[in-house]
Amino acid sequence: AIETAMPRWQRLAHHATHHGLYLLFFAVPLLGWAYSSAAGFPVVLFGVLPLPDFVPVSEELAGLIKPLHKLSAFTMMALVLLHVAGALKHQFVDRDGLLSRMGWGRG
Ligand code: HEM
Repeated sequence: AIETAMPRWQRLAHHATHHGLYLLFFAVPLLGWAYSSAAGFPVVLFGVLPLPDFVPVSEELAGLIKPLHKLSAFTMMALVLLHVAGALKHQFVDRDGLLSRMGWGRG
């Protein structure tokens, strides 16, 4: 298998990236929602579905959450780039056919 053929540091880096991405997929929008609520702008999904504010309106809290939202969003973007770079390395440098494992009906 591709995974067992990889050096240990690559396997660890991949797993850390993967888990980080899963975490941030939830954390980034939640922090955005919290920031928006704290700043006094309740979120209305697609302009129709109002979301409840789960944090109070507070300038102090908003100032605390905003940099967290920004940092988490930029971290997520960096991990996405790393993830894509890894996939491209497998495809074009290692030529191990990793990308062909994604998609329908292929082993
Ligand atoms: C995957 C989802 C999201 C990503 C990648 C993302 C990313 C970002 C980034 C990069 C900024 C700019 C930060 C800065 O330069 O100061 C930002 C700002 C902001 N985000 Fe998000 N965000 C996401 C979801 C959300 C959600 C769901 C909300 C609220 C419903 C939200 C509310 C805001 C607000 C209000 C700002 C503006 C801050 C300001 O300039 O006053 N975000 N977001």
